[in-house]
Amino acid sequence: MKKVIVTGGTGYIGSHTAVELAEAGFEPILIDNFSNSERSVLDGISHILGREIPFYELDCRDRAALNQVFVSEGPILGVLHFAAFKAVGESVKDPLKYYDNNIGSMAVLLGVMAEHGVFNFIFSSSCTVYGSPEVNPVTESTPLQDANSPYGFTKQVGEQMVQDLVSSPLFFRAVTLRYFNPIGAHPSSEIGELPAGPPNNLIPYLTQTVAGIREELTVFGGNYDTPDGSCIRDYIHVVDLARAHVKALEYVNRQGPDRKFNFIANIGTGAGSSVLEVIKTFERVNGLKVNYRIGDRRSGDVEQVWATVGSRMKDLGWEAELSLEDALRDAWNWQVKLGQRDQ
Ligand code: UFG
Repeated sequence: MKKVIVTGGTGYIGSHTAVELAEAGFEPILIDNFSNSERSVLDGISHILGREIPFYELDCRDRAALNQVFVSEGPILGVLHFAAFKAVGESVKDPLKYYDNNIGSMAVLLGVMAEHGVFNFIFSSSCTVYGSPEVNPVTESTPLQDANSPYGFTKQVGEQMVQDLVSSPLFFRAVTLRYFNPIGAHPSSEIGELPAGPPNNLIPYLTQTVAGIREELTVFGGNYDTPDGSCIRDYIHVVDLARAHVKALEYVNRQGPDRKFNFIANIGTGAGSSVLEVIKTFERVNGLKVNYRIGDRRSGDVEQVWATVGSRMKDLGWEAELSLEDALRDAWNWQVKLGQRDQ
């Protein structure tokens, strides 16, 4: 049994994971409602793999439609759940949208899984659950802080839902992956990030600035208590992150059928980079200049957060293989492929 359902399968991380799963011998079945992606992503995936992957266009809150996928595709080994909204600022303006989609759809999905006796679950969480950590690097036992945004809160609730199901009489077995900052694109430039409108995230804003779509990149804050005054993050190549999901499924398979668990792992490189270091590295790797200026801090930003490469990543059998340079080169190649497109 190799079939796995990938919700949000045409999204940024979901699409890269679909490719890695298929290359590792799993049979991904993709679900998406194209709320933050588009059909062309399916072409990119099939160009890389040389074949098409089953796809269902539906909203995970649609219980009947979701149920039908489990009926037609069963038996299913497990579910990787990526479908969620992810814009921190938008979540502050419209929290109900985030509660409804991120929490509501997850409740429906877990319910349908339980009805069909599908209990293996890989959950997309985020280092946002740590809030502003008192000490860096963070480990999985670093205490969780109050969420900085409704988006972050939905990830904390999602983690709690997973834990509650594992603790319940149901036979749930889960891996919760707390992603640090995924960047870059598939090295083939067939798939990558497709931000709708002006990007919120650093790398697409940077590449769009270099491409001339945006006038200037603003570095949000130059007076933080960091070596160069800009914020520090743990940037991880999206292909490395995708491979962590393959390792997570293999981890579940290794545990044997009788064990229930919720295995939580940070997925980062173990190295923190400042915004200014990212810009300099981009310029060096691609031989291009970035038009930027230091601006005001962005409200809600964490000053610094990066992961430690600890025992959980080792238990998964995963480590980052690609560098910041690789990610920034692939991000630029993807931007070149997109050209002047401004969604
Ligand atoms: N940044 C800029 N200018 C920009 C955009 C971002 O200077 O135009 C800076 C930010 O201040 C931050 C860094 O670049 O220091 C990274 O910002 P991103 O918006 O790319 O990423 P975040 O760290 O804010 O957020 C990401 C994901 C969230 C996730 C969070 C966890 O987007 O989904 O990591 O920390 F929750």
